[in-house]
Amino acid sequence: MTSEETLKEIAEEVSHCTKCKLHYSRQKGVPGEGPPDAEIVFIGEGPGYHENVQGRPFVGAAGQFLEELLETIGMKREDVFITNVVKCRPPGNRDPEPEELAACKGYLDRQLETLNPKVVVTLGRFSMARYIANAKISHIHGKPRRVNGLLVVPFYHPAAALHRPSLRSEIEKDFAKLPGLIENAAQFPDYVREEQEEEQAEQLSMF
Ligand code: URA
Ligand code: SF4
Repeated sequence: MTSEETLKEIAEEVSHCTKCKLHYSRQKGVPGEGPPDAEIVFIGEGPGYHENVQGRPFVGAAGQFLEELLETIGMKREDVFITNVVKCRPPGNRDPEPEELAACKGYLDRQLETLNPKVVVTLGRFSMARYIANAKISHIHGKPRRVNGLLVVPFYHPAAALHRPSLRSEIEKDFAKLPGLIENAAQFPDYVREEQEEEQAEQLSMF
């Protein structure tokens, strides 16, 4: 099967999935979208109102801002793969629950295995937590690290950054790092180790 076919198959499964209770209230499942050879995958939290109606990720205000941010680095949404940690809308946009995240995990795992992207960008806390436990996003946003072979870089969620000037300038700066990250993805392990050692030294020096 080609990557394109595998991604289609996953999308098809999501559209009639009943593995968690979010399927009761969903209008459309939102598997995610983008080219099978995307170098970057963006992982958000979960579909909101508009996503649930259209069956597409990031089509509301946060999506528009994401598109603007991509434009600042010369990219379009069609160049990247965009998805979420849960594929069906949590009612009233509440946080996804641990059982829902666990039930949905396999779809994203398979998408990532198929796409094998150079860089994974997590948007917000829930997708960050998938890779980095007990981290504070204010400490680690914009800092890449290798997790199980994937180069992962956590960003603020665009919905959170949109209306808060301080976060907005941080997410803009983090986006500006993306082209360099993609370019140098292959040689990252050493750089990451250095950064993490620096981080640990910083933490130790606080005591
Ligand atoms: N926010 C998300 O986290 N995901 C979407 O798909 C839309 C908004
Ligand atoms: Fe299935 Fe994920 Fe939707 Fe739950 S959120 S019903 S696990 S696709």
